[in-house]
Amino acid sequence: MKKIVDLNDLSLEQIQDIIDEAIAFKKGKTIDYHQKKVVANLFFEPSTRTHYSFDMAAGNLGCRTQNFEASNSSLKKGETLYDTCKLFESIGCDALVIRHPEEDYYKQLENLKVPILNAGDGRGNHPSQSLLDLMTIKEEFGHFEGLNVVIVGDIFHSRVAHSNYHVMQRLGMNVYTSGPLEYKQEGYHYVHFDDVIEDMDIVMLLRVQHERHIGDENFSKEKYHQIYGLSLERYKRMKDSAIIMHPAPINRDVEIKDELVESEKSRIFTQMQNGVYVRMAMLHKVLEDE
Ligand code: CP
Repeated sequence: MKKIVDLNDLSLEQIQDIIDEAIAFKKGKTIDYHQKKVVANLFFEPSTRTHYSFDMAAGNLGCRTQNFEASNSSLKKGETLYDTCKLFESIGCDALVIRHPEEDYYKQLENLKVPILNAGDGRGNHPSQSLLDLMTIKEEFGHFEGLNVVIVGDIFHSRVAHSNYHVMQRLGMNVYTSGPLEYKQEGYHYVHFDDVIEDMDIVMLLRVQHERHIGDENFSKEKYHQIYGLSLERYKRMKDSAIIMHPAPINRDVEIKDELVESEKSRIFTQMQNGVYVRMAMLHKVLEDE
């Protein structure tokens, strides 16, 4: 595989293959590149989970890593994204993990020969997050077909929502979205959270992305929680077998009540753990073809 930038470019077989490989890594499968491969982590936007779990994943595969610091780089001298990436290709990196605020940034990088793993492009895509979400769902339910999921929150600005909406539908899941009407995405199936909560297998909450807004929030944190958040009352209405997911970072007491973050139904920290295995599988897919 030469790159993973958008899950719509991958067949369902390729997606299932990455998930199965990640589950195999979790069960103890090992691959060792013996420090002969170098993975560069280029984050032009803040990240905790994605950055450090890609770094951990590369280390687990016996790769060396280079961690680019945008704030202390020649970006400050006007260097373009293409030229920064070309530098990491030229000095011998074998894969580039890139997060960038611009949607579809990777289209500018099509001349590069080094494989690219998209770690998030603006409000576009977040393939590694979707894959770790799917791994978590597969571990929980053993299948995708027919599962009901509601994604609640700032759908319009969320790359997680956009990646998941399409791939989950392709896998046969019934995907609903909910949250403030001003964050609705045209063309997506919109429902009121309270109308569907009892029927959902998965309740996926999203963070309000204040950094992508332009002062358009019309509600307080308390009001948001009351209308759209997973409160204790809504938690009690969930199916016994249902689970809670959230890509994090979490705004506690906004999209989810603080004490529910580590509740019995929560898989939020399992998602983070699975992120390392999924990123190992993604890195291996591009490095083995190098
Ligand atoms: N879920 C996620 O992408 O988190 P980070 O922004 O911390 O990487």
